[in-house]
Amino acid sequence: MTDQYILALDQGTTSSRAVLFNVNGKIVGTAQREFGQHYPEAGWVEHDAMEIWAGQRAVMTEVLARSKVKHEQVTAIGITNQRETTVIWDAISGEPIHNAIVWQCRRTSKQCQQLKQQGLEEYIQQTTGLVIDPYFSATKIAWLLEHVEGARERAERGELRFGTIDCWLLWNLTEGRVHATDHTNAARTMLYDIHNRCWDVKLLEALDIPASLLPQVKPSQSLFGHAQLGPTQVPIAGMAGDQQAALFGQQCIRPGMAKNTYGTGCFLLMHTGTKPVASTHGLITTLACSDKNETPYALEGSVFMGGACIQWLRDELGLIRDASETQAMAESVEDNGGAYLVPAFTGLGAPYWDPDARGALVGLTRGCNRNHIARAALEAIAYQSHDLLDAMQQDAQMTLTELKVDGGAVANDFLMQFQADISATPVTRPSNNETTAAGAAYLAGLQVGFWPNREALAGLNPPQQQFLPKMDSDQQQQLQQGWQQAVGQCRHHR
Ligand code: G3P
Repeated sequence: MTDQYILALDQGTTSSRAVLFNVNGKIVGTAQREFGQHYPEAGWVEHDAMEIWAGQRAVMTEVLARSKVKHEQVTAIGITNQRETTVIWDAISGEPIHNAIVWQCRRTSKQCQQLKQQGLEEYIQQTTGLVIDPYFSATKIAWLLEHVEGARERAERGELRFGTIDCWLLWNLTEGRVHATDHTNAARTMLYDIHNRCWDVKLLEALDIPASLLPQVKPSQSLFGHAQLGPTQVPIAGMAGDQQAALFGQQCIRPGMAKNTYGTGCFLLMHTGTKPVASTHGLITTLACSDKNETPYALEGSVFMGGACIQWLRDELGLIRDASETQAMAESVEDNGGAYLVPAFTGLGAPYWDPDARGALVGLTRGCNRNHIARAALEAIAYQSHDLLDAMQQDAQMTLTELKVDGGAVANDFLMQFQADISATPVTRPSNNETTAAGAAYLAGLQVGFWPNREALAGLNPPQQQFLPKMDSDQQQQLQQGWQQAVGQCRHHR
């Protein structure tokens, strides 16, 4: 096994990556390619699905060449992907009928409003675990069928296929032989019954979506098909949406285990076991990575403005030149000086769900300087994550013993320590931050016996550092109160 590898394809919102793992879980090579973002109207976001496929194929070849790994040394392929992004293509030619509609795209707000008016809110929450929102694939599919000329007729004749990006890559990798997705991606469509694990007929009817468009849904860890790598047929043996892949990659495989990914936004997921937990705090119930024996559930919440707060300091305020400066700035002052930044630039998500809230910097005194503001921005990332963690623990009635973290901003020690302090929970940073790609690799590797069982994964990505909570509870409560007050001020803004 020593000269064999697992190839993880990580297709994200802004770049396509290929990462090679050895049997010790170490990365032996990576390749990455960015692709175009298209904004045809305000609030609309599209990708060229062909460009995504071409880029993904290119990085796949590149990583092997660079690492001097031969095709036959690739034991299996795992796929992980930006979720919800919607592609519809012709079953014969493989040509997309339109650009992919990206998860961030808000073009279907009106359709979502209509679904609410039809009284489907509760049904959708109960069946799919989701709140009605343009974020999910369902209304994006309906939009394409309605707006692309001839699409409805072609769909009704069974000539078209729908897929999220995992499914699109799988179709292309198998040269059109396999039309399938996994549980985690299906759970993001707002068409999938997460309890009975089937496409929901009532929702398909409500949105007028022909069932012939839809892929077969399989466990995340299963044999999806084979890709032709040079002369070699390589099994594609794992697929999962990127946030669930990171949860698996962080080995959060038991109830109560959670991870937070600190990117532009933050994605927090908590494994809740084999029984679904319905949220009373506006969180989403979703499926975690599954295998043939088990389809576990997770609670999910997202922070809209995570690393984006720091980008704002840099690009809009001109307060810093580089994100890395913020750690020293935050540490140079004793405390936040009473300043709180609530980055509700586009409203507030869970657990507040207030689209009309607007950002605020409050509590300033004459002594506040740029360091306090940088500190307030970092603290804001932690407060928002904490609000979600708190909601999750209440919903699931489980107490977190540790928060596993990944993503770009985990390099910031101040942020990690503050998260541990404010959440009164140890925060664990792994030695390999590539947890998303690792999750896809683990799924595929387990399926083909590259790793014999989950226990064999346990030591593959040891903690690089653990941040233990140090703050006393009085101070923690005082800060929490300050944050809550600041959030309150944002909400009364309009
Ligand atoms: O739900 C959207 C999420 O999957 C996107 O992740 O890492 O591509 O921004 P990312």
